[in-house]
Amino acid sequence: MADKKAILTIDGNQVELPIYSGTLGQDVIDIRTLGQHGHFTFDPGFLATGSCESEITFIDGGKGVLLHRGYPIDQLATQADYLETCYLLFNGEAPSEEEYKEFVSIIKNHTMVHEGIHQFFNGFDRDAHPMAMLNSVVGALSSFYHNDLDITDPEQRHRCANRLVAKLPTIAAMCYKYSIGQPFVCPKNSLNYSENFLNMMFSVPAEDYEINPAVAKAMDRIFTLHADHEQNASTSTVRLAGSSGANPYACIAAGIASLWGPAHGGANEACLNMLEEIGTVDRIDEYVAKAKDKNDPFRLMGFGHRVYKNFDPRATVMRETCHEVLESLGIKDPLLDVAMRLEQIALEDPYFVEKKLYPNVDFYSGIILKAIGIPTNMFTVIFALSRTIGWISHWNEMLSQPGAKIGRPRQLYTGQDKREFQPIKK
Ligand code: SDX
Repeated sequence: MADKKAILTIDGNQVELPIYSGTLGQDVIDIRTLGQHGHFTFDPGFLATGSCESEITFIDGGKGVLLHRGYPIDQLATQADYLETCYLLFNGEAPSEEEYKEFVSIIKNHTMVHEGIHQFFNGFDRDAHPMAMLNSVVGALSSFYHNDLDITDPEQRHRCANRLVAKLPTIAAMCYKYSIGQPFVCPKNSLNYSENFLNMMFSVPAEDYEINPAVAKAMDRIFTLHADHEQNASTSTVRLAGSSGANPYACIAAGIASLWGPAHGGANEACLNMLEEIGTVDRIDEYVAKAKDKNDPFRLMGFGHRVYKNFDPRATVMRETCHEVLESLGIKDPLLDVAMRLEQIALEDPYFVEKKLYPNVDFYSGIILKAIGIPTNMFTVIFALSRTIGWISHWNEMLSQPGAKIGRPRQLYTGQDKREFQPIKK
């Protein structure tokens, strides 16, 4: 219940609005009754608007804190694996050893996809962007799986979540294989989650694929670091789509579409393309000047964040992983030199310091993925694979909350006043 109130004076009348406090973070002002006083709030881009109550993830942008169900991201990324994090995000508590083993076997039993899905790919050109394929195929899953579409049934919501966590790697790898004209590789349940993904991505019938444990560990850590991030654009898209009662596969496809944008999940692909365009350290100043130029739309991809006005804690772990992977693979990547110099500039240059633009999660992930041999156009597909558990956990939380309402924002109308229409013959 509200123990504090905000007083708003509108046209001389005082309006009392309850203030709620959460476990952590900012208090919120409940403005739901404002409509009764003839006003709406106005907050394009939702800079200061809370859309829901959630227990899943907490971010303190000023302190660079990211907690999943209370656990700091660096502890999960280094002491748990991605499936443990999936279990935690969806269920609210970390699994016991028994619960973990059971969850892993459930996921393994859902890794294959219906044979009909293979046919979907035949309609795509080979040069279709993998995100276009992922978006289409995930959205079509509801045409195959009908026994988990009753969104009012917690059991069916859980089964659907397990199916999505299990099948996204298979479908993601299919997008890659199709784009390079190689045969799809069936999931192998003898492998763990990240090993299985790497095998489906890189093994070919002509020879066995030897999994590098360091690469598999880095892949798993990348999955964990991207698993959830509170009410970001794509998660809010999934919640809004889900609020209408749309089926979960359609909602996740909507999340994939939103994530694709270069300002959001597409930034890792855009960041690597930017590093490759810069090419060498001596050309960095030219690009930094472009990024600072108000008249130039160019931005340094991989920098800045709506919430983090400090280091993105995921970028910190990603940076360490980046060095580990390059070292274990014996790769000297000149793009890493460019990245390190850019990071140094971002931490020293007044423009970046004043605007609190730090490297974000997308800054280092691209370099690691490139080192693993994953093509740039697959980066956001991997982000979507990782984030599916976050999306479906928020979707499930919203539908578990009593009184869930359809999301329907209002607006400030600045169009034409009422006028009489003149039929064309007049
Ligand atoms: C993700 O929300 C999430 O949690 C997202 C995410 C997740 O896990 O879900 O964390 C994943 O999307 C990370 C962000 C990846 N995007 C990029 O790296 C793209 C580059 N970054 C920017 O486009 C931007 O920083 C955003 C979109 C991330 C944030 O934009 P905001 O919060 O709307 O901030 P803004 O655009 O108003 O910028 C504030 C100022 C502006 O200058 P002024 O108009 O105030 O003078 O900072 C400048 C911007 O011009 N600025 C940049 C910049 N980012 C912001 N200038 C140069 N380079 C940049 N990257």
